[in-house]
Amino acid sequence: MSKRRSRIAVTIVAALITGAVVAPFAHGGDTTVETKNEFGVSRTIHVGGFPVNAEGNEFFLDLGVNGRRCVTCHQPDNNMSVTPASLQQRFRDTGGTDPIFRTNDGSTSPLADVSTVGARRQAYRMLLTKGVFRVGISIPATAEFELIDVKDPYGYAGRNDNGNELSLFRRPLPTTNLGFLSTVMWDGRETLQKGSAAGLHFDLSHQANGATQGHAQAPLPITDAARNAIVAYEMGLFTAQVYDKRAGALTAAGAAGGPDILATQSFVFGVNDPLGCDPAGAACNPALASFDPVVFTSFAAWSGARDKARAAIARGEDLFNHLPINIKGVSGINDDFGVAVVTGTCTTCHDTPHAGNHSVPAPLNIGVAEPPVPGQESGRGVQNRFGLPVGDMPVYTLRHKVSGEIKVVTDPGRALVTGKWKDVGRFKGPILRGLAGRDPYFHNGAAESLRDVVNFYDTRFELNLTEQQKADLVAFLRAL
Ligand code: HEC
Ligand code: HEC
Repeated sequence: MSKRRSRIAVTIVAALITGAVVAPFAHGGDTTVETKNEFGVSRTIHVGGFPVNAEGNEFFLDLGVNGRRCVTCHQPDNNMSVTPASLQQRFRDTGGTDPIFRTNDGSTSPLADVSTVGARRQAYRMLLTKGVFRVGISIPATAEFELIDVKDPYGYAGRNDNGNELSLFRRPLPTTNLGFLSTVMWDGRETLQKGSAAGLHFDLSHQANGATQGHAQAPLPITDAARNAIVAYEMGLFTAQVYDKRAGALTAAGAAGGPDILATQSFVFGVNDPLGCDPAGAACNPALASFDPVVFTSFAAWSGARDKARAAIARGEDLFNHLPINIKGVSGINDDFGVAVVTGTCTTCHDTPHAGNHSVPAPLNIGVAEPPVPGQESGRGVQNRFGLPVGDMPVYTLRHKVSGEIKVVTDPGRALVTGKWKDVGRFKGPILRGLAGRDPYFHNGAAESLRDVVNFYDTRFELNLTEQQKADLVAFLRAL
C-alpha cells in the first residue's frame, strides 16, 4: 500500500468513530432485523448500538412538509430500499395516499392528476411497477451539449417551468453498508469531498439535508445535529442475505456470508482499483494498479461441496471473480483509456472486496440507459438493444454544441452533474450486497430479477453463458 493510500485509509471502524458524535439510542429496540424474501432471509444489523428501527432518530422523523421521512423510501424490511411489491401493498392499504405517493417526485409528472384512486394508480405507475422515483435535474447552462428532442410519455420532461428539468426515473439506493461507498448517488452528485471517512461523513450529511429539502420538501435546511444523527444511524447499518432456501445458513460449513462478517471487513478508498486511479479519481495509471480479481471469497469454502445448492453458489462466485469478459464500448473505460477491448471480469468494475461497488468514483456507461430499439413504438415492455424494457422511460436526444454529434439516452446520468459530453449515460457501480429482497435492479429498475441482470450482461458483452453458468451466477448473487 502506498504512503498516500495509508494516510487516507478508511476503515469502517474509523468511519463509525467519525459518525459517532451523536450518542446512540439508550432506549431498547433490536439491533438485528431479519426479513423473508423470495430466496431466503436477509438480515440488517446496526453495529453502533442503535436499534435498526431507531424510531427516535431523525431518519425516522417527519422533518419536511409532505409527510415523507427517510424511512418512507429506505425501509429496513426492503434492505433499506423499497420494492414494487411493498409499494403496491402500501397503495392498496391507503388508496395511494401513503406519503410515498407524492407528486413532487413519486408520480410520472408533478402535474399528474391524483384526484381519484384510479388516477393515482396511473400517476404512480412507474413507482408501482419499477420502484423508481422521478429525479428532476436540468442541463447545466455551461454543458458541452444541448437537448434537441424529448419524448416523454408523461408530457413533462425538458419543457417545463422548472428550469426545463429532465425527468430521470431512478431506484432508491440502499442506505446500508455505506462505509464501503466511494460515490454517493447513482450519478455521484453528492460526492463532494471523497477519499476519507471525514469526506464521506460530509457527503452523507450534505445528502441528508438535500433529501429532506427535496423528497420531503422542507423549506429550510435541517440542523447539523439532525444531519449528524442521520449519518450516525446510516453508517452503522450492514445488510446481507443470511439464509438461502436451498443452501441453508450462509455461514454454515466455513462460508462467510451475512452482515456480521461483512461488518468486520475494512475498506480503503481506492483499494483494488484495476485502473490504478488515485484516491481522488483524478489521475489514473493502469501501470500502477495492484488488482486482484478475487473480490468475493465468502463462499470459497463451498467449492465442490456435496450439497448441490452450496456448490452452485461457490461456482457462481468463481464465475464472478474469474469469467473473462471482453469489455468493449464502455464509456469511462474504453474511451478514457483508449483501449478498444479490455479483457476483464465482473470484478473489473465491481472491485471493492466483499462489497462489489467501485472503490473510486468511476462513472461508467454499460448501456442501461440506451433508448428503445429505433423504429419501435414506446410503451411498457418495449426493449433496448440489450433486452432491457425501457419503453416506459422518457427518451432524450442530446447534441454536442461544437461537433454536432448526437447521443440518445433515457437518462444522461453523470453528464447532468458535470456538463461533460463524455459523461452521458454514465452511472456508478453500486454495492452488490443484500440484493435478494430489493428488486428490481439497475438505476432505472429495468432488470426485474437477478436472472434479468445476468441475461443483460450475457447480451451486452456477448458472453454466451450456458444455462448452468447463468443459474450459478444467479445463485451467487442472491446469496449476497
Ligand atoms: C421519496 C423517496 C426518498 C426519500 C424520502 C429519501 N430518499 Fe434517499 N434516495 C432516494 C432515491 C431515489 C435515491 C437515488 C437517487 C439518485 O441517485 O439519483 C436515494 C439515494 C440515497 C442515498 C445514496 C446511497 C448511495 O449508495 O449512494 C442516501 C445515503 C440516501 N438516499 C439517504 C436518504 C436520507 C438520509 C433521507 C432522509 C433525509 C432520504 N434518503 C430520503 C429516495 C428517497
Ligand atoms: C464494465 C463494467 C461492469 C462489468 C464488467 C460488470 N458490471 Fe455490473 N454494474 C456496472 C455498473 C456501472 C452498474 C450500474 C449500471 C446502471 O444502473 O446504470 C452495474 C450494476 C450491476 C448490478 C445491479 C445492482 C443494483 O443494485 O441495481 C448487478 C447485480 C451487477 N452489476 C452484477 C454484475 C455481474 C454479475 C457482472 C458480471 C457478469 C457484472 N456486473 C459486470 C458495471 C459493470
